[in-house]
This record gives sequence, C-alpha cells and structure tokens, in this order.
Amino acid sequence: MKDWPVLSGESPLDVSGLKIRGVSTREELNTLEAKNIRKVYMKYLAAKPSDTLAPFSLNWLNQLHKEMFGEVWEWAGSYRTTNLNIGCDKSQIQMQLKATIDNLAYWKTQGVDVLLQSARFHHQVVQIHPYINGNGRWSRLLGNIWLAKHGHPLTSWPESNVAGESEIRDEYLLALKSADDGDESLLIKLHARYT
Ligand SMILES: Nc1ncnc2c1ncn2[C@@H]1O[C@H](COP(=O)(O)OP(=O)(O)O)[C@@H](O)[C@H]1O
Ligand SMILES: [Mg+2]
Repeated sequence: MKDWPVLSGESPLDVSGLKIRGVSTREELNTLEAKNIRKVYMKYLAAKPSDTLAPFSLNWLNQLHKEMFGEVWEWAGSYRTTNLNIGCDKSQIQMQLKATIDNLAYWKTQGVDVLLQSARFHHQVVQIHPYINGNGRWSRLLGNIWLAKHGHPLTSWPESNVAGESEIRDEYLLALKSADDGDESLLIKLHARYT
C-alpha cells in the first residue's frame, strides 16, 4: 500500500489486518467499508430495532463493530491491544464501556432527553476508542440505533464530510474535544442540527 496520509482525529491505519488484497488507495478502502456498513444500517435502522436486535450489551457492541467492518478487517469486533494517542488505556476498555452502558439506563430513569442521551453516548464510546479503527462510524451509528429504539428522528450525519477533511469535520472534532473537556453544548448543537 502507498503512503497513507493520516487525517487529524483519525486512528492511524495498520493495513496488516486487511482481509481484501489489492487495496491501494483510501478511496478504495472507503468504498469497501461503506458497502459493508450499508447492510448494517439496513439491519438496524429500517424499522424500530427491538431489545433483542439491539440489546446495548457489551457483547452486542462488539458484534455491531464486527458487522460493520468484518468483511474488510480481521480485527473487527475485537478490542485494540495497543494504546493510541486517543482513548483510554487498553486495560480499561471493557470496564469503561460497561460504565457507559450503565449511564444509558441511568439517564433513562432521570428522564434525560433522548437526543441528549444519544449525543452523550456517542461521545463517551468514541472517547474510549475501543477498536483500532472505525470508532467514529461505529459510535455515530450507535447513537442513531439508540434514537431509533426510542422512536426518535435520526441524526443524519453528512458522513462523507465527517469522515474526510472538511469544515464540518473540523467543527465535529472541535465539538468532541470540547465535550472531552466537559462542555457538551457544541456537540449537542451539532446533533440537533442534523436531526
Ligand atoms: N478528541 C477527541 N475526542 C473524542 N473523539 C474523538 C476525538 N478526536 C477524534 N475523535 C473521534 O474519533 C473518530 C476517528 O476514529 P477512527 O477510529 O478513525 O474512526 P473512523 O475510522 O470511523 O473514522 C472521529 O470520527 C471522532 O468521532
Ligand atoms: Mg479511521
């Protein structure tokens, strides 16, 4: 594979886990991943997902990542085994994800607005960064599955702009960083704009 410039805010790519040979550009890779992911969108968002289909359990979080990326990457659905410059220590991933799932249940009992629940969950799981790659797309889909489960209109992220270099991506990353620092207002505004 050729030199692969890393965009700001993205996980560096290690192509050794690629299941498909002959991928030489980011565009080719994006297309393969998008084809895989499209089927998963249909599975979870075509109709209101049931608790059985989308239980929001630890195992299911991995299953969802595997469904989204398993045709392309060997490590899909498995936690990273290295530390990145983003995300918690690798030993903390499962515990932190569990805490985030518990937060969902808590927010529900507290009557937190569903869109706010989705925005917070999206941010918390992407901040943990459980996987080598695909964390952004996985976390945004999770937020949407949560909305769908509660009969709420979905957030239609302009995915191609959010994934590639763009003003929207810069704004999105800024909103996530400011949520990292405890101010979730920008991220909530962004969710609201696309919902
Ligand atoms: N400072 C940050 N805080 C929280 N999340 C971040 C931060 N920077 C980037 N991210 C998230 O990480 C994602 C990139 O991670 P990556 O694993 O490459 O996902 P993907 O391959 O789906 O784009 C971004 O889309 C964004 O959601
Ligand atoms: Mg990436």
